[in-house]
Amino acid sequence: MTDRQPDGQILALSWRDTPERYGLITRALHWGMAGVFAWQFLGMILRNLLGRGPVAGFFVGTHTALGTVLLVLVLLRGAWGLYNRPRRPPQEGGWLGRAAVAGHLALYGLMLLVPSLALLRAYGSGRAFAPFGVPLFSGFPGGPIGWMTAPATAAHGLLAWVLLALIAGHIAMALAHRLIWRDAVLQRMAGPAR
Ligand code: HEM
Ligand code: HEM
Repeated sequence: MTDRQPDGQILALSWRDTPERYGLITRALHWGMAGVFAWQFLGMILRNLLGRGPVAGFFVGTHTALGTVLLVLVLLRGAWGLYNRPRRPPQEGGWLGRAAVAGHLALYGLMLLVPSLALLRAYGSGRAFAPFGVPLFSGFPGGPIGWMTAPATAAHGLLAWVLLALIAGHIAMALAHRLIWRDAVLQRMAGPAR
């Protein structure tokens, strides 16, 4: 992908991150996953508001399979982030920069924990599980294993809502950068290659 500079120079938006902006792979993972998260939360909000009818069912029917895909994607994204770390756009100094780093780490922590607990419960239930037809667990006789199912039953939903609150704060900060401080933080994830 390319972008034309005001002086006519063509600048490539590279696959890898650079200190000026996030590259194509990081952006694809960020925005693609944001879309799938929106689907997951919208489905659960509709289920809680409307009950288990056909509208919520349309979204929630893919919840466990897409949640599993999100876990795979966050592992890839974390590895890609570590590989690109030395060349990523730097955070500003001071408490705001440290808060941004802490916020991103908390997002990663919950993006890992929320589906991991649910998959541990799916395994421990003893039932077969085949997201999008891919046989992941074949199931076993003897019923659920309590220590595997209990953590998700206690905390999967709760932690998912905490993640949604954190995402709302994250979006608010991205908008504050754009509308209040008028700096280029949003552009380095969303804007053109300049
Ligand atoms: C990062 C991915 C995921 C997100 C953001 C997410 C989010 C949520 C949310 C918001 C709820 C509703 C909780 C409530 O109404 O109190 C929920 C429930 C549920 N999720 Fe997920 N989920 C994810 C992954 C998974 C996976 C991978 C599975 C199964 C393999 C799963 C299975 C369930 C089940 C069975 C429920 C209903 C029971 C409960 O609330 O624990 N989820 N999820
Ligand atoms: C409208 C929605 C969103 C907007 C406008 C937005 C905006 C941004 C921006 C501007 C950055 C770069 C920040 C910087 O360089 O300091 C960023 C990075 C990041 N965002 Fe978002 N974001 C959105 C949705 C999400 C969602 C849904 C998640 C997670 C569930 C998320 C997780 C992250 C993480 C972990 C980073 C750090 C870079 C990385 O490792 O990908 N964002 N976001």
